[in-house]
Amino acid sequence: MFETLPPQEPDKIIALMQQFRDDPREEKIDLGVGVYKNDDGITPVMRAVKAAEQRVWEEQTTKAYTGLIGDPSFMEAMTSLVLGDAVPHSSVAWAGTPGGTGAIRIGLEMIKMAGQDRRVFISDPTWPNHPSIIDYVGLERVSYRYFDNATRAVDFSGMMEDLQALKAGDVLLLHGCCHNPTGANLNPVEWQMVIDHIIATGAVPLVDIAYQGFGDGLEEDAAATRKLAASVPECLIAASCSKNFGVYRERTGALLAVAAEPFRVARVQETLAALNRMNYSFPPDHGARVVTTVLHDAALRADWTAELEEVRLSMLGLREQLVGELRRLSGSDRFAFLAQHRGMFSRLGTTPDLIDRLRVEHGIYIIGDSRMNVAGLNAETVPILAEAIVQVGV
Ligand code: LMR
Repeated sequence: MFETLPPQEPDKIIALMQQFRDDPREEKIDLGVGVYKNDDGITPVMRAVKAAEQRVWEEQTTKAYTGLIGDPSFMEAMTSLVLGDAVPHSSVAWAGTPGGTGAIRIGLEMIKMAGQDRRVFISDPTWPNHPSIIDYVGLERVSYRYFDNATRAVDFSGMMEDLQALKAGDVLLLHGCCHNPTGANLNPVEWQMVIDHIIATGAVPLVDIAYQGFGDGLEEDAAATRKLAASVPECLIAASCSKNFGVYRERTGALLAVAAEPFRVARVQETLAALNRMNYSFPPDHGARVVTTVLHDAALRADWTAELEEVRLSMLGLREQLVGELRRLSGSDRFAFLAQHRGMFSRLGTTPDLIDRLRVEHGIYIIGDSRMNVAGLNAETVPILAEAIVQVGV
């Protein structure tokens, strides 16, 4: 049987991560996978997370199963974090999931259960795992224009033109903030136009929010998702704690589904529990419990918020430093877009050939579509990157 398995196309992010690990050069720089690194090049356990882990270790008396959707206090904490008081919490069905990927996966599975012929609209480009999961689940996908390679900003008119094809029941996948892979984001006016269009067409939004707190701030980054959830009759939100709590390997995330009608909330709730049961029975608990402990304790929460803000500001500082270095070396302002982008990523908008040269000649690892992880830089590596970018002629 095994010989009949089709070969698998490797995910380009994970493939590059391995290539980086295999590279023996000491001076190599990893700007591939989306992981924050501090000035010493390490991805630290956040202070509040470490303290919460200790508390959980001391106080936890059992490892018995939680519930199929996870611990209700985690869900309450996540609903408050992502949605604030934008919608009554009684209108939210939820499930804890293994990371944001797990949330996207059961969200798409539920969409498929709701009707075989639903189409999922995804931005071009998007996180490569979106199309992979959509295809695997067996839904039709449609791309909409998103990024203007000339301006390195959102191609909003192209996007809205393509979204004219949306019809009732279609799903529109949006990035809540910090678009991955481009770093280019809708402004509030554009968000409102997208929301109006969703309402006019009867499409259902699926928001992937994996970088809350990495763009303009915790509340600011959730603003569009909250507005959307409060405006449409139904929406799905896949939230990840991997980045903003730095709990990447703990696989901590949640799917939230907002519905105005109580009977719909109940039906979605039983569906999400069933999907969790069929996929993995119970979602992972450790990361969720740690996140809940942080969010429910005033002192830990304040410390987490402060550290997250340090991370966010350091990324903004690195963007400014890089733009300054590139201005100095290239004698032009053509890289100013890097300071406009938000979140971990920026798409340089250059060719795979030049990205290959950065890797081969300079040991700098960037995804082939020219997505660069700004959070992988530090004050010392920024000038090295800037030199290399100018030298290869990006
Ligand atoms: C990324 O985009 O690099 C991260 O979300 C990690 C991943 O799983 O791809």
